Amino acid sequence: MAYITGSSDVILKLGKSVIRRYRKSDAEAIVAAADSHLVSEYMTATFPSPYTLQDAVNWIDIAGQEGSLFFAICTFDSDIVIGGCGFQHLTGEQSRTKVLGYWLSPRYWGQGIMTEVISSLSSWAFEQLPTLLRIEATVIEENRGSIKVLERAGFHHEGTRRMAVFKNGRIHNVLVMGLIRHEWKDFVEVKTGGVAE
Ligand SMILES: CC(C)(COP(=O)(O)OP(=O)(O)OC[C@H]1O[C@@H](n2cnc3c(N)ncnc32)[C@H](O)[C@@H]1OP(=O)(O)O)[C@@H](O)C(=O)NCCC(=O)NCCS
Repeated sequence: MAYITGSSDVILKLGKSVIRRYRKSDAEAIVAAADSHLVSEYMTATFPSPYTLQDAVNWIDIAGQEGSLFFAICTFDSDIVIGGCGFQHLTGEQSRTKVLGYWLSPRYWGQGIMTEVISSLSSWAFEQLPTLLRIEATVIEENRGSIKVLERAGFHHEGTRRMAVFKNGRIHNVLVMGLIRHEWKDFVEVKTGGVAE
């Protein structure tokens, strides 16, 4: 994993993808990647379906706001957007928690791309945000691939919000997955045989 600093809009260069800030020119690629019920099925209702060009333009504006931690996942070689990832801020007494979200174009599933993104992006957040204590993600119970990528990054299943989601005529339990700063450090240390600083 390489951290990029300076004026570049690239956040992380990984083995299988690049994480960078969104650009105005990304709108069509976002639609091509995101406009699929396979993607929206397990996302919250704020993720548009169908996903239009205007939705993409709006998202690029939101992600471009000061302090935003929403990023594009791009192909390593051609720099085309194939997914999104990032953190939602919480306020008040929860401000030292960030909520992780992510999605990938179905064309690229099953290649280990998100496993690498979640693991690296979580490390990036703990290193870049010294006051951050906790990253959490909520996942519909049937979304086994998503649970797997979180577990591989060291997230723990902290509880289940039973029947929390009613979507497309079906009721779902939702798993709360969390990663605490000190667990992350221990996890990275064990995984790499080194220390996370
Ligand atoms: C979930 C998602 C991000 C995974 O991305 P990905 O790049 O395909 O994930 P990876 O390839 O790194 O790893 C997924 C793992 O889960 C496994 N998996 C996928 N579906 C599975 C299922 N139904 N049951 C069990 N394992 C499953 C894959 O086989 C893979 O494991 P492996 O490497 O041992 O083969 C992607 O499927 C996606 O964007 N889904 C739609 C949006 C979404 O659900 N976002 C998350 C909301 S919480």
